[in-house]
Amino acid sequence: MKKTITLIALASGIALSAAAAEIEVNHLGTNNTMVRIDSDKHYLLMPVQESSEDDRIEVIVDGKLDQVIYVRLAKQRVDFSVPFDLSQYGGKPVLLNIVTSQSRSSVRQVSNDACWHKLVVTDTFDTTNREIYRPAYHHTPLYGWMNDPNGMFYKDGVWHLYYQWNPYGSKWQNMNWGHSTSTDLINWEHKPVAIAPDAIGTIFSGNTVVDHENTAGFGSDAVVSFYTSCGVSQVQSMAHSLDGGNTFIKYAGNPVITLDSEARDPNIVRYEPTGEWVLSLAHALEREILFYTSTDLKHWTLSSSFGKGIGCQDGVWECPDLFELPVEGSDESKWVLLVNINPGCPFGGSATQYFVGDFDGKTFTADTDTTGVIPTKWMDYGKDHYATVSFFDAPDNRRVVLGWMSNWQYAAEVPTMQYRSANTLPRDVRLFKGDDGQVYLASAPSPEVDALRGTLVSRCGHKRINNKKARTFLLPNTNSGICEIQVDLKAQAGAQAILSLRNANGEKVDIIYNKDLKTLSVDRRNSGIVDFSQDFPCVTTAPLRADSEVLSLRIFVDRSSIEVFANDGEAVLTNLVFPTTPYTTISATASGKAEINSLKVYNINAK
Ligand code: FRU
Repeated sequence: MKKTITLIALASGIALSAAAAEIEVNHLGTNNTMVRIDSDKHYLLMPVQESSEDDRIEVIVDGKLDQVIYVRLAKQRVDFSVPFDLSQYGGKPVLLNIVTSQSRSSVRQVSNDACWHKLVVTDTFDTTNREIYRPAYHHTPLYGWMNDPNGMFYKDGVWHLYYQWNPYGSKWQNMNWGHSTSTDLINWEHKPVAIAPDAIGTIFSGNTVVDHENTAGFGSDAVVSFYTSCGVSQVQSMAHSLDGGNTFIKYAGNPVITLDSEARDPNIVRYEPTGEWVLSLAHALEREILFYTSTDLKHWTLSSSFGKGIGCQDGVWECPDLFELPVEGSDESKWVLLVNINPGCPFGGSATQYFVGDFDGKTFTADTDTTGVIPTKWMDYGKDHYATVSFFDAPDNRRVVLGWMSNWQYAAEVPTMQYRSANTLPRDVRLFKGDDGQVYLASAPSPEVDALRGTLVSRCGHKRINNKKARTFLLPNTNSGICEIQVDLKAQAGAQAILSLRNANGEKVDIIYNKDLKTLSVDRRNSGIVDFSQDFPCVTTAPLRADSEVLSLRIFVDRSSIEVFANDGEAVLTNLVFPTTPYTTISATASGKAEINSLKVYNINAK
C-alpha cells in the first residue's frame, strides 16, 4: 500500500527518500524540474500564481509523451490550485517534465518556488463558489478560464453548450471544449470535457450539427462537431458523438480542411433547397469569410468568399454564423451572416458585426443601402458581447444565440480568479425593417428567461421626472445584486432621461435616454472597480429607431453584468460592472420633459 505522505526533494535533484513518496520532485536545472507521481488518488492539485508565466509541462506515462499542458505554476505565492486528473492513467506512475519559462538564477532558488511545496494528491477538488462576482443566472464555468461559446445544439429536450475552456488556469490557454447542458436554457449542469487537445492541436471554436439523414455515415442523428485544431498552424477538424453529445470520437481523416493562411471557427448549416451542407470559415487575417459546401460533411469544396474590404475591417474576423430568418411584417426572408471581429468594436476591443443579404447555397450577397454601400451593423452596443453564434436545431424554428460576455481587451484582468467569464443571457433573434428601409437583427431575451422572474420588489405607475428630485426605487435586498427591471420611459423633444443604479459606496451605472439624439447609453465609468484596465471605464451608446413613442426597457442585473434590452431587443447593450457592494436602488432624473410610464423591479428566482 502507498503511504500518503508527500516528500519534496530540495535543491539536490535527488528525492529525500525513494520509499513510498506519492510525489517526488527533482530539480534538474534552473528551468527544468521533473515531478514523479505514484498515487491512486484522483487528482494532482497544481498551485497557480496568475502573474507567473506559463510553464510547459510534458505529461509522460509508460515512457511516452501523453500530452503537453501549460500552467502558471506559483513562484512567490499561491493564488489557487487547479486539478490535473490522474485517474485517466488508471494508477500508473505519471512523470511531469516541467520546463519553466522564468529561469531562476540557481537550483536552490528553483527549489524555493512556492509550487513545489504545495503540490498535493487528493480524491476531491472543491468547486464551491468563492467569487462575489459570479453571476447567479448566467452560464459560467465551474472553475478556470472560458471564452467563446461553441458547438451549441438542441436535441431531445436538451440544450448543449460547449465552450473554449482552460481547465488549468483562469487565463487563456490549453483550449478544450468544456461542456454544459440544460433542459430550460437557464440552469446549466457541468459535464466533463467533451473534446480535448490531441497531437494536431488544441481545440478552438466551431459548431455542431445533428446529421438526421446520416449523410456522413456515422449513424442517423449522429452529433457531428467541427472545430479548429490549433497546432503549428490552424486546420479544421471534426468529431462525432453517438451518445447525444457527451463523448466524441475524432475523425481519423482529420484535418478535413487545410489552408496556407490563418483560418478558423468553422460553422455549418444545411442549405435545404439543395440538401448540401455549407461551412463558413473565418479567414481571420484576410478579414473575409470563406464558404465551402459538402454532401457528406467530410469532403469540402470552396465555393466563394465574402467580405474583403467590406464592413468593419479594423480587426481579425472570427466566429462566423450564417442563418435565414423571416423579415417581420413581410413575406420575405433574409440571410444573416454574423462576423465577430476583434478589435473593431465601436467602443474598443471585440464585438459582433452582421450582414443581412441573400444566400443561394454557394454565395452570400449583402444588401446595400441607398448609396450602394454595404452598411456595418452591430448586434449589441455594449462592450461585453463577443463570439456570438446560434444553437443548431433550436425548437419551433427559433434562432437562439449566446455570446461570450467579455472583451479581449481586459477579459484576463477582470477581478475574479476561481473562474473567468460568463455567457450572455440566451437571446432569440429576429429581423425587422428600420426607418431607413434596411433590415436589422433584434435580440430579445429568450422566453425561457421569463421563468426567472420572482416577486415584485418596487413599482410605480405614471410619474413625471425632472432634475430637481430623483425618483428612487429599491432593488431586492435579499439575493442582492440580481434583479430584472422593466421601465417604460417617455421623453419630449430636447429631453434626456437618466436611470441610475446606485450602491452604498457611491458607485453608479447610468442608463441614459437622449430623445433628440435617439440614443441609449450605458455609462459605467463610476460603476465600482474599473481600474484593472484603462479600457474598462467607458460609455457605450446604441442608436434607437427614430420614433418609438415609448422606450420600453428590460434591464437584467446579475452581480457583475448589466444587459439592457430596448424595445424588445431592437437595441441591446451588454456591459460588465464590478461594484464593491451590490447596487441597491434605481433612481430616475431628467433634463427637459420626461416621464416614467411604468416601472417594475423584480426579484430573480436563481437557483
Ligand atoms: C475568438 C477566438 C476564436 C478562436 C478562439 C480561441 O474569441 O479567438 O477565433 O477559435 O477564440 O480560443
